[in-house]
Amino acid sequence: MTPDLMEAGAERVARHAHHIDQALQTESGGRAAGYGRHATGEVDVTHGRILYLEDVSVSFDGFKAINKLSLDIAPGELRCIIGPNGAGKTTMMDIITGKTRPDEGTVFFGSTIDLLRHKEAEIAQLGIGRKFQKPTVFEHLTVFENLELALKTDKGVKASMMFRLDSAQADRLAEVLHTIHLEDSVLRLAGNLSHGQKQWLEIGMLLMQDPKLLLLDEPVAGMTDEETARTAELFLSLKGKHSLMVVEHDMSFIRTISEIVTVLCDGAVLAQGTLDEVQADERVIEVYLGR
Ligand SMILES: Nc1ncnc2c1ncn2[C@@H]1O[C@H](COP(=O)(O)OP(=O)(O)OP(=O)(O)O)[C@@H](O)[C@H]1O
Ligand SMILES: [Mg+2]
Repeated sequence: MTPDLMEAGAERVARHAHHIDQALQTESGGRAAGYGRHATGEVDVTHGRILYLEDVSVSFDGFKAINKLSLDIAPGELRCIIGPNGAGKTTMMDIITGKTRPDEGTVFFGSTIDLLRHKEAEIAQLGIGRKFQKPTVFEHLTVFENLELALKTDKGVKASMMFRLDSAQADRLAEVLHTIHLEDSVLRLAGNLSHGQKQWLEIGMLLMQDPKLLLLDEPVAGMTDEETARTAELFLSLKGKHSLMVVEHDMSFIRTISEIVTVLCDGAVLAQGTLDEVQADERVIEVYLGR
């Protein structure tokens, strides 16, 4: 991504924060002030939240994997989520993306889109991209073909064969290639890439659809130190333009990219703050960091 794009994103967030501050200072508290819709595409982020979960719970065979979880994310934010194995981090992503239905609670994308009323495929279409831990690129296709494929929304055979990039899409593809550092590998088969490069390619495939919110589950697991450092740079460059939720166990990676860190434990938020703040929290040390 070009620096001017990043700057534009950062500016948008700053402008937006200013609007919210102003609105909160009104007598009505701002919520009903109607100071003009400030939407990112079709997502209404007027209230300063691109993702909003409240009192979400889900049980599997009587075990509460998510237990009255409440959490929200600001537009353009890069939120890190940490917590012990089994805390419910992946399950939370399953709920946001419509893979798992919660038993109760509220899940909103912006202030108007009730995600619990949408199916998994619709949620992806709405602009929520998800990266699972294992890379899922098409190994027998080139980097270029993988990125091109990500644009094909009509999966019919005929539509796919007739598909040609228009110039805006070609520009986007070039921009994404640059962002994910794979310009020099554009004609290589995805199967011949390193693990880290496959992960970047998959992130690139998500970026081709210009998601508003990206959910990334343990993106640097299995990466070399150098790949991890590059991934940190990549995420920092995406911040502002996209909103990101990153689940990771790698604390030095979290330290490099994080602003606010949310600690999940037993399906709920145990602590939230800067990494230094949560690392100093006795409860967090006990359940996670101190082990
Ligand atoms: N589909 C399911 N059926 C039954 N139990 C499940 C299901 N999905 C998750 N769980 C259970 O819910 C709990 C939370 O799991 P989850 O995978 O969300 O944890 P996590 O925080 O992602 O852990 P990790 O850091 O190991 O990835 C675990 O006890 C898990 O066994
Ligand atoms: Mg997990």
